Amino acid sequence: MLVIMEKQVDTNKLLKQHLEMESFFVGDFTLKGNMPESNMPQVESTIPQEVSEMDNSLEKIADHVRACRKCEIAGSRLNAVPGQGNPKARLMFVGEAPGADEDQKGIAFIGRAGKLLTDIIIAMGLTREEVFIGNVIKCRPPGNRDPKLDEIHNCWPYLKRQLEMIQPEVIVALGAHAARTLLNTNDAIGKLRGRFHEYRFSEDAPPAKLMPTYHPAYLLRNYSYDNRKRVWEDMMKVLKELGLPVPEKKK
Ligand code: URA
Repeated sequence: MLVIMEKQVDTNKLLKQHLEMESFFVGDFTLKGNMPESNMPQVESTIPQEVSEMDNSLEKIADHVRACRKCEIAGSRLNAVPGQGNPKARLMFVGEAPGADEDQKGIAFIGRAGKLLTDIIIAMGLTREEVFIGNVIKCRPPGNRDPKLDEIHNCWPYLKRQLEMIQPEVIVALGAHAARTLLNTNDAIGKLRGRFHEYRFSEDAPPAKLMPTYHPAYLLRNYSYDNRKRVWEDMMKVLKELGLPVPEKKK
C-alpha cells in the first residue's frame, strides 16, 4: 500500500514537472525554490588527437563509434550513441552520456532530459533536425553513473572529429562534464555558464563560441524558476550570437 502511495506521489510530481516545463518553455514562468551550487567531479581534457585519419564523414565516425570497444562500458551497452543531426549545423549541443532510453535506441537525448532539450530547442524557434546533438561519452555508463576520466579520454577523439567536421558557430555545453571537457577546465558549471568561451577546432580555423549551461537532467532535478530563467537567458545569448530572432516570451 505504502509502495502504491509513493508511486502516486512520484507520478504527480512527474506530471507537475512536465506541465511546468511545457509552460516555461512555451508559456509563463512558474516560481519555485533555489538551487545549490553544483559540485561535480573534475575531469581532464588534454587528450591527444588520435582520430585525425578517421574517415571523412559523420556517418563514418558513427561507424567507428559503434565498433568501438576501448572501454569496459562497451560491453554493457545495448547501442552506442554517436549523436545525430544536421552535418552543417550552425549550433551543436553536447551533453554528458546516453541514459537508458538513448542506450535502447542509439539516439541522443530522447528520454526525459531529451524531451526538455527538445522543448528548449523549439522555444528557441529551431528544430532538432537543424542542430546537431551529441555527447562527450557515446556509451551508457552503467546505472547512469558519472563518466570516468579514462572513458572521457577514450571517447574524446570521436567528439573532437565531429566538431571539426561540423564546425558549428556556437556550441552549447550541457552540464559540467561537457563544459569541462570542451574547455579543459575544472571550474564549476555555475561559474562557467552564462557567458561565451572559445572552442578552437584547430590552429587555423576560426574558433566557435561555446556557451556552457545547465544540463536538462539537472534542470529537471532542480526545477526552480531561477534555473529555468538562467538556461533561457543563456539560450537567448546563443540566438543573438547566431543572428537569429529571439522569440517573444517570458515575463
Ligand atoms: N543525458 C545526456 O547527457 N545525453 C543524452 O543523450 C541523454 C541524457
